[in-house]
Amino acid sequence: MDKTSKIQEEKHLTGTLVLSVFTAVLGFFQYGYGLGVINAPQRVIEAHYSHVLGIAPIDRSAINFSAMVMNGSTSFSDLEGQDVSKSVTSSHHILTMYWSLSVSIFAIGGMISSFTVGWIGDRLGRVKAMLAVNILSIIGNLLMGLAKFGPSHILIIAGRAITGLYCGLSSGLVPMYVGEISPTPLRGALGTLHQLAIVTGILVSQVLGLDFLLGSDDMWPLLLGLSGAAALLQFFLLFLCPESPRYLYIKLGKVEEAKKSLERLRGDYDPAKEIAEMEKEKQEAASEKKVSIRQLFTSSSYRKPVIVALMVQVSQQFSGINAIFYYSTNIFEKAGVEQPVYATIGVGVVNTVFTVISVFLVEKTGRRSLFIAGLTGMLASAVAMTVGLALQSTFAWMSYVSMVAIFLFVIFFEVGPGPIPWFIVAELFSQGPRPAAIAIAGFCNWTCNFIIGMCFQYIADLCGPYVFMIFAVLLLGFILFAHFKVPETKGKSFEEISAEFRRKRHSAIKGPKAATELEDLRASQDA
Ligand code: GLC
Repeated sequence: MDKTSKIQEEKHLTGTLVLSVFTAVLGFFQYGYGLGVINAPQRVIEAHYSHVLGIAPIDRSAINFSAMVMNGSTSFSDLEGQDVSKSVTSSHHILTMYWSLSVSIFAIGGMISSFTVGWIGDRLGRVKAMLAVNILSIIGNLLMGLAKFGPSHILIIAGRAITGLYCGLSSGLVPMYVGEISPTPLRGALGTLHQLAIVTGILVSQVLGLDFLLGSDDMWPLLLGLSGAAALLQFFLLFLCPESPRYLYIKLGKVEEAKKSLERLRGDYDPAKEIAEMEKEKQEAASEKKVSIRQLFTSSSYRKPVIVALMVQVSQQFSGINAIFYYSTNIFEKAGVEQPVYATIGVGVVNTVFTVISVFLVEKTGRRSLFIAGLTGMLASAVAMTVGLALQSTFAWMSYVSMVAIFLFVIFFEVGPGPIPWFIVAELFSQGPRPAAIAIAGFCNWTCNFIIGMCFQYIADLCGPYVFMIFAVLLLGFILFAHFKVPETKGKSFEEISAEFRRKRHSAIKGPKAATELEDLRASQDA
């Protein structure tokens, strides 16, 4: 594209477009906030739970990993080496159960609702759907904000389940809306704002979680419920956002309304070209049959791309990243850090900075290579973290090794395994199976997220400093999978991919070796 037409295209970044994208990604901000907020106040809320439940409080930082390793025992000893197993065991189990559920119920909500995204988005329209689901966020946040006025553990678990429902819906509706209202040259850049909004939400929740801000015994209900403010802001701003012109044109056939909406989004320019594009898209959509979720699993033609789409989600979540985001304060404590909350905030800052960097890397280096490089770096960091945690009682400086390893783990995640799974699924599937594929990928992502939230604390208590070796082994498996099965999709627009695919499919029929892995996947869908 020459310079003048590029500037011309960039003019499409109007105030209304910026406002609409900002309003939509407030949904992803809340997702990030919900993920991160539960980390810093773990100790004060657990203490409150033990008070409400009438059981002995437990200080996890007093469980000394190094002593467990050296004794070769699974009993708990305190920092002086005294065996405190009996006194801690039963209250420890009850608290761990309630705490793990408080953390992970959020993801159950996400799992359940992610399935209904296509239905609600098509039925109400993108903007009205976002407005409607906002109510869930407001209710969930109110329950958490008022937790001290009732059985707090129940109110928190219910509140997190309901905000999880909201986030599951949001994680489908927002990319749908942002993708549909973005002008083609800005679609990639605006698409990456999802991950940026998530990591910003995580960071804000970590900063507010400081004990002199909202992470204190008095203020934690406000900390948990505060993302309701983002929901309220989103609610009011949504009234200023135009409905997706693509939804109006392609789904509802409302040509005039679609034009008006386009005018608001693009400002002073002739919408004829974009209307023609939508007309083409409408015809393509009409010619391709819609594929149900069941068909996606039963038809052998989708097997390969479905496995790739699911495995990238499994890799993202089972890399262990959310073990850090849910539990890093606790992990840092065990690594001997005196002010673990600041280290947790450091992780949030590094996470945000590298998400911004990855925006540029993804366009330069390609998805597949970044995905593999990121996983490999995470594997090395997981091994280093284990060595650091296991040897910190022998060599004091080893605690620095584990700290640096945690930071590197997060950096490598944001280089590839973080952002890529959110958008690669759409690239692997054609028009017909795409909505169903996005729904099952979202469901898979949330399910794995839930498993980590629910199980990590148990496994960490059981395995002590070796817990990240489990992730190291899994990461090795994901690297091998990605190496052999994940195709490169960089630099190809959806139209280009399908055009190239059609061309290559012809040559593949003549000479199968000409077909690349991606074309194999797309070819099998069309068969
Ligand atoms: C990705 C993951 C999410 C994780 C976040 C961390 O968005 O889907 O689960 O917490 O990255 O940055």
